[in-house]
Amino acid sequence: MTLKLNDKYLKNFISEHEYECIAPMVAVADKMLREKSGAGNAFLGWMDLPQNYDKEEFERIKVAAKKIQADCDAFIVIGIGGSYLGARAVIDFLSSAQLKDKVKTPDIYYAGCNISATALNELLYICENKNVCINVISKSGTTTEPAVAFRVLRAFLEKKYGVEEAKQRIYVTTDKARGTLKAFSTQQGYETFVVPDDVGGRFSVLTAVGLLPIAVAGIDIDALMQGANDARIAYSSSDIYQNDAYKYAAMRNILYRKGKSVELLVGYEPFVGMIQEWWKQLYGESEGKDGKGIFPASVIFSTDLHSLGQYIQEGQRILFETVLSINDTKSTFEIPYDEANIDGLNFLAGRDINELKQTAMRATQLAHIDGGVPNIHIELAERNEYSLGYLIYFFELACAMSGYLLGVNPFDQPGVEAYKKNMFAMLGKPGYEELRKTLEERNI
Ligand code: PA5
Repeated sequence: MTLKLNDKYLKNFISEHEYECIAPMVAVADKMLREKSGAGNAFLGWMDLPQNYDKEEFERIKVAAKKIQADCDAFIVIGIGGSYLGARAVIDFLSSAQLKDKVKTPDIYYAGCNISATALNELLYICENKNVCINVISKSGTTTEPAVAFRVLRAFLEKKYGVEEAKQRIYVTTDKARGTLKAFSTQQGYETFVVPDDVGGRFSVLTAVGLLPIAVAGIDIDALMQGANDARIAYSSSDIYQNDAYKYAAMRNILYRKGKSVELLVGYEPFVGMIQEWWKQLYGESEGKDGKGIFPASVIFSTDLHSLGQYIQEGQRILFETVLSINDTKSTFEIPYDEANIDGLNFLAGRDINELKQTAMRATQLAHIDGGVPNIHIELAERNEYSLGYLIYFFELACAMSGYLLGVNPFDQPGVEAYKKNMFAMLGKPGYEELRKTLEERNI
């Protein structure tokens, strides 16, 4: 089994009849998703994507990835939010020094996901003596952070290689027709890839948005898509007893209604860190609206057992945890025997570090449920492309279902605009004069 949803540590928090009560609501929401009749239904393209993706573009991505691998030793991905988190999550989850030794891949850097002169200067310094290619990713083509980074890095490439060669090193992923980035790319003759109209940023990791950087990192995108497609088939039932993605959504919703308003996605491996960031954006941006929503947060254990662990065990009882464990990471490490045994650890000698991790996990889960923190457990069979594609689809489908159970539109993000408008007004962007006056009057 690629993914197992384990409810062993939830028994004291959710009773069987609660699932029975929510099951009909899940079935209704499933109908809304499948018949495209619910809120945000213009953005359901991700549902069939693992089967219906553009095969011609997929092949072009592979060709471009090979060319990028040959042309550069530094590959810069420019994007923010849904336009970079998925790629970074997959790359961090699957990359390893061994993979890098097998396929010659460039070092990957990220830009346009912050507003930091320090980060930009650092990147330019690092790239000064490297061969560089860039992939700018923006569905709207107008987001300030990536647009500024692109302006700077394009100038950097043009200075380094000349205008014509720079064009061969710039790859653009954006809307197929709209936006200034598309218009500019056509004018310059950059190779472009498409963010489909019906796929929102945070659901776009399995489009060119994620796939080009992922392929450049030497990761098998066929296996990634295969895993996602098998999950699509596995999670096609409307019945929560047959569909674990929906069951996870139901668990979250039941716990939320009991006052558990914060979900911690728990990882036990550092390589899960960016998956947690991707997951936080997916759930936070999809559910946090209309004064509602579970706040998605994350911890890496055992690191955070020595920081947030105290709060989780004994702080406000508003938390529940979703533990994401990977059963086979392909890595083992035997704890050595030491003749002197000064540290007293010889009782562990000859045992695998994974056994320690498994024990820490079970010990923590028991302590936390005893402390009143419900635990959902997602077990992923392996650390590979197929399993990760499967997990991505599981989380996306569960997120859509969670949003509908909550009674929100999971596919919009109106709240993201508020800071942007204020920032444009304060910086004097044409068209924002009225707002600028109002903000000045507030005198804050
Ligand atoms: O998920 C989303 O829709 C957002 O996080 C966007 O991806 C993010 O704001 C970047 O937008 P764009 O791709 O238009 O630059």
